[in-house]
Amino acid sequence: MERHHASVNTVSPNKRKLENYEENRDLKRKKEADGDHANSKLVAEHYNKRGNTSCAERRNSKIFYMRNFNNWTKSVLIRKYTDALYHVGVAHPVVLDLGCGKGGDVLKWDKARPRHLVCTDLAETSVSQCKERYALLKRRNRNRQFFSAEFIVADSSTENLKEKLEDTNLMFDITSCQFVVHYTFESEDKAETMVKNACNNLKEGGYFFGTTVNSEKLINSVKKSDGLSFGNNVYDVTFENKEEFPEFACKYIFQLHDVVNCPEFLLKKETLVRLCKKHNMRLVEWKTFSEFFEENSRPKENFRLIQRMKSLEVFPPNGEPLNSAVEGDYEHAQLECDRINEKYPGSKTRVATLSKTEWEAASIYVVFAFVKEDNNKNLMSSEETRTTAPDKTPLVIL
Ligand SMILES: C[S@@+](CC[C@H](N)C(=O)[O-])C[C@H]1O[C@@H](n2cnc3c(N)ncnc32)[C@H](O)[C@@H]1O
Repeated sequence: MERHHASVNTVSPNKRKLENYEENRDLKRKKEADGDHANSKLVAEHYNKRGNTSCAERRNSKIFYMRNFNNWTKSVLIRKYTDALYHVGVAHPVVLDLGCGKGGDVLKWDKARPRHLVCTDLAETSVSQCKERYALLKRRNRNRQFFSAEFIVADSSTENLKEKLEDTNLMFDITSCQFVVHYTFESEDKAETMVKNACNNLKEGGYFFGTTVNSEKLINSVKKSDGLSFGNNVYDVTFENKEEFPEFACKYIFQLHDVVNCPEFLLKKETLVRLCKKHNMRLVEWKTFSEFFEENSRPKENFRLIQRMKSLEVFPPNGEPLNSAVEGDYEHAQLECDRINEKYPGSKTRVATLSKTEWEAASIYVVFAFVKEDNNKNLMSSEETRTTAPDKTPLVIL
């Protein structure tokens, strides 16, 4: 016994030091690893918890038109770049939907007639729902050739997606990343891994496009606000400080009525451009939602889509109550109707628009697109296409 005690006590101070060091190091590594995944876990939990909403629930939502407007923007974006590929001979693109969520875009992809679609997301439940959505659509269209698809649960900011593909040599024509990439700007490593997953397996001439946060707007809004928050009765953004807005780990909490309540990170245009450049990607488009709408709402097909998708609200309404009860929310629409009615006496002008409340929440996003450089072909202009439309509420005359 004594000897045993003696032997325990005779561990040399150096050995004890080494043991302590190893123990602390392992603890530190575990802590770092947990920390590394902490935000991903939060995001996955948040999205896994969100069930499918019924049509009635969606219709009664305060952000009914804003969500439809976002869907219109995504539809037009998908059509724009699948058309560009069609014109260079890619009729049936191979597509990666990175951060597919519950598969809200599966129907949009069907319209783009892809050859194969890979849907991947961090949230397991969302991926299952996405798979179900695809299966249902495929059953409904069993009389025609339907695109193949695969579904992958993965954290694209820490894992190598290529290794998880059914065919690890698969190359994509398109990577679409809708309302996702900013989640990975928690660290440079994570953002780099996400961008690598988005761009590494793209063919030359292939596109990486999507929607993400409008950092300029977020920074300006918080600077103007009294405290660290700004928003309205459908959304709210809260920063941790408003003195510094670093390239990575610039966290804020984003709350959207009934939908999102999650930590997000600022994503600056120049940072995404820098990360994409490493993969030979050139920026071809970076537009606020307002600019994108101004540029794309006129062509007939897109105009019809506004009506079909109910992506704007009719004003004055056809007997139904307006979606927002906030005073002044349709002032811009009333002014436009008055202007036209004055110009054309007797006309009963109707317009389609978003309430100011819904537009404020929608306009914190931008559209982006990069092309994988191919020196032999000039797919689009060599400069990023930009419009100079002011940030105004979308409105079309019906
Ligand atoms: C706002 S939702 C958008 C879903 C879908 N793209 C859409 O537009 O309907 C954001 C999605 O990004 C996913 N996401 C966030 N971080 C991710 C990551 N590191 N890897 C993969 N998916 C991620 C979330 O799980 C969530 O489904």
